[in-house]
Amino acid sequence: MKSIIVYYSYSGNTKKVAEVLAGYLKDKGEAELISLQALNESNSFFGQSNRALRHIKARIEPAKFDLSGYDLICLGSPVWAFGPAPAMNTYLDACSGIEGKDIILFTTYGSGAGNQRCLNYMRDILSKKGAKQFKQFSIQQFKVKDKEFVLSRIKEIDSL
Ligand SMILES: Cc1cc2nc3c(=O)[nH]c(=O)nc-3n(C[C@H](O)[C@H](O)[C@H](O)COP(=O)(O)O)c2cc1C
Repeated sequence: MKSIIVYYSYSGNTKKVAEVLAGYLKDKGEAELISLQALNESNSFFGQSNRALRHIKARIEPAKFDLSGYDLICLGSPVWAFGPAPAMNTYLDACSGIEGKDIILFTTYGSGAGNQRCLNYMRDILSKKGAKQFKQFSIQQFKVKDKEFVLSRIKEIDSL
């Protein structure tokens, strides 16, 4: 099985989860890990929230947008103002080749406010692009360092 994990992480939490997921998927086949780099992200909480709330797209470094060569596509973002971070908005808009594909969506969050809304937002965009089946999981920010916990959540959704 060939998998790709594309994530955005501003302060490292989502990166930790993405790395555990990549390790898990590498045991099942090939797994490519791609970190999205925003070129014009705000550095302030207010600026970031304001942009995320309006589903603004960030300018990002070129990334792999054509996903047609993968069996499983995993996309991860922190929850920012009840939605994905702007770099993930850009990627959701730009990615292609996901017709009929299996998708895993994952988020990290603080209070949990808007987490489901964020996942639904990501899912809606990919559904419109023809993605077939979705699984999803979320990790609270204080649990991201607990590798065993993250792995247990991944195994849980993988068994569904
Ligand atoms: C600008 C901003 C907005 C946030 N908005 C939310 C939110 O709406 N709901 C929530 O549960 N957490 C929110 N958080 C917390 C982050 O989702 C959480 O810290 C996440 O793990 C950060 O991931 P990262 O380290 O990969 O950037 C917000 C954090 C930031 C910086």
